[in-house]
Amino acid sequence: MKLLVLHGPNLNMLGKREPQVYGTRTLDDINCSLEKLADGLGCSLSFYQSNTEGELINAIQGAAVDCDGILINPAAYTHTSIAIRDALSAVALPCVEVHLSNIHRREAFRHISLIAPVAVGQICGFGSDSYLLGLRALFNHIKTEA
Ligand code: DQA
Repeated sequence: MKLLVLHGPNLNMLGKREPQVYGTRTLDDINCSLEKLADGLGCSLSFYQSNTEGELINAIQGAAVDCDGILINPAAYTHTSIAIRDALSAVALPCVEVHLSNIHRREAFRHISLIAPVAVGQICGFGSDSYLLGLRALFNHIKTEA
């Protein structure tokens, strides 16, 4: 099983960016933890981060070629991007949406996710553990569906 881990805008700044909201772990730290978990589960991961909507869409379209699912933190595009949602619908790969922070406890504009209706599920509020929980959920979902 091969999965794409997709990180949206400003997540390259994790560690320095509002640590009181997003914690002190860097994106590399998170990717390393995901890699370890994936090794244990027996799946392989590819990672991609972009600050640009179109590049994220290209990565989603590319995943259709050789991936079985997508773990995505769309970051601010969660709340704005019909184009990313459409790309996820188009490729029709199982996708799990994750957020470090609990978007439902924050500003009203973060309460809406345009991505959630096309995802298998959403995990938020557990800091970097959201990604690990999301990977387990995606892996189990794909195994069960297979
Ligand atoms: C985020 C939550 C979003 O609202 C925000 O724009 C982000 C990060 C999170 O992981 O908590 O950039 O996706």
